Amino acid sequence: MRIELEKIKTPLKGTIQPPPDKSISHRAAIFAAIAKGDSLIRNYLIAGDTLSTLSALKSLGVQMDELRKKKIPNVGERAEGFTIRGGGLSGLKEAFDVIDCGNSGTTARLLSGLLAGNPFFSVLTGDDSLRSRPMARVITPLSKMGADIKARGGNKFLPMAVKGGDLTGMNYEMPVASAQVKSALILAGLYAEGKTVLKEPGYSRDHTERMLAAQGAKVWAEGDTISVEPGDELAPFELIVPGDFSSAAFFIVAALLVPGSEVLIKGVGLNERRTGLLNVLHRMGADIQIENKQEVSGELVGDLVARYSGGLKGTSVRGGEIPLLIDEVPILAVAMSAASGESSIRGAEELRVKESDRIKAVSENLRTMGIETEEHKDGLTINGGRLRGGIVRSFGDHRIAMAFAVAALRAEGKTVIDEAQAVNISYPEFFEELRRIPAG
Ligand code: S3P
Repeated sequence: MRIELEKIKTPLKGTIQPPPDKSISHRAAIFAAIAKGDSLIRNYLIAGDTLSTLSALKSLGVQMDELRKKKIPNVGERAEGFTIRGGGLSGLKEAFDVIDCGNSGTTARLLSGLLAGNPFFSVLTGDDSLRSRPMARVITPLSKMGADIKARGGNKFLPMAVKGGDLTGMNYEMPVASAQVKSALILAGLYAEGKTVLKEPGYSRDHTERMLAAQGAKVWAEGDTISVEPGDELAPFELIVPGDFSSAAFFIVAALLVPGSEVLIKGVGLNERRTGLLNVLHRMGADIQIENKQEVSGELVGDLVARYSGGLKGTSVRGGEIPLLIDEVPILAVAMSAASGESSIRGAEELRVKESDRIKAVSENLRTMGIETEEHKDGLTINGGRLRGGIVRSFGDHRIAMAFAVAALRAEGKTVIDEAQAVNISYPEFFEELRRIPAG
């Protein structure tokens, strides 16, 4: 699907209820599947990635209600609350076929850890993009714990065959700050003999630690060190998935860039390991306010008001700030392209192994749109300027498609985005919302 967008002439005014959080939806389904009893999940994300997780769990014998949709006017389709009937830590069954994780790195990596703890044979695979993404980061430590894993390309890529069971806890220094790797190892640690201690080189999102601890698992964090011990069965839970900050980010930046805009973004997750983008945008001079902060199902949730911010200034982002905004770099780069002066993002080599090579994708597209951009091994330098329309590529990546749709609102002339259906991975109603919001 190709989408054509013109520079927008009216301000963005209105309310957005971003889709449910993708990271928390995946985790809610997986953790409910191994809890002992029925869990009720409200506001589960209905999108490509999180449906991949549900079908993977079904193929592992997990019983669950049908996921029904309801249409909410001016919001889109949302899931009705649904129940997953957890069979306990040893309730999963060997799948009859290969498990297809689609485009979802979170599904593949979290399941690799879970399956490493289970004494049966499993094969995980995914689409072309996922089969090109690095898996040694989970295979190496899980093998160290005792799992028998073989994978394509010298044990580096999917498909991956896992024969789990008989794991032993370990002390492990993670080479990359990755919540997916950390979560895989925490899940394996629940099944291992003895204690598993993980040290992260940076602070990645901590939803797994929070959610499993709330279920009674022996998981605790002290600074950058996370410890896990096997324990009793996990308790089932009732949970409301908050709005996804990573999806909200596109409308936050859209409001900052389109003159006269004011957008209210409601019910969005504000976990501080996810909202690094807000700090950077504030530093650039953005007008964004946070309102109605409250805790919902163990996570901070609130509303955001983002207003047009004409005087954005360039900034530099590096080091420990990167994991706190890892998925927001494409849209941050768009904000930087509209800011005055030079901006840079460094220490972000992880972006090369996301759903696409996001450093290459962002710099190619920004250059197409007339912005002077230098590509580095670990990031980008962007010289703010005037965006102009052009034919940009999504590289089959949902976040690249959405970031450049926002850039198009501000660009002179027409912008064409190819393979725009990639948005279905995390935000199926993105383009409908983009068309609806100027009207308020
Ligand atoms: C995710 C973690 C991040 C992020 C991804 C979702 C998660 O990946 O980029 O979109 O849900 O744990 P890494 O943990 O590999 O950085």
